[in-house]
Amino acid sequence: MHRKILFISIAIILATLPAVSSGKKKNKSQINSQIKSKSNSAAASRGKTLYRLYQCADCHSINGEGNKEGVSLDKIGTKRTSEFLLAQILDPEKHVEKNSKKFNGEPNLMPAQEIDKAEARAIVSYLKTLR
Ligand code: HEC
Repeated sequence: MHRKILFISIAIILATLPAVSSGKKKNKSQINSQIKSKSNSAAASRGKTLYRLYQCADCHSINGEGNKEGVSLDKIGTKRTSEFLLAQILDPEKHVEKNSKKFNGEPNLMPAQEIDKAEARAIVSYLKTLR
């Protein structure tokens, strides 16, 4: 009799185990996307610091902060692709000339920035969060 109860209990435990563990287990792609979003947000916060360091706000405004007569970067993350933003930061002169239409035919007024690619990428991560 005792043995029967023991068997039944073991059977129940074994039957519920996989359900419990699969509920908690994350698959590889979930883990990867979690890592990606964590490193994205780390890059974005570094980018925000670099944005201040390079004094972009002398000419740009974000949420009313910075030069209000300058070019607003509000919601820039929805307006431009990462590639577009990166190219603008790395070589404004060439980029504005090449994309004249997107800048309403206005001449380039953004000076070249002494920024390396890694830093520019971090700033782009930050700008992409502006939505
Ligand atoms: C001396 C002023 C000045 C500074 C400093 C400056 N910019 Fe600009 N930026 C401009 C102007 C003006 C434009 C508009 C395009 C043009 O006429 O050159 C522009 C355009 C841009 C654009 C494209 C906006 C769009 O509509 O697509 C981005 C992105 C940008 N700047 C980012 C930055 C970042 C990041 C920094 C700092 C590293 C920076 N800028 C520093 C003046 C400046």
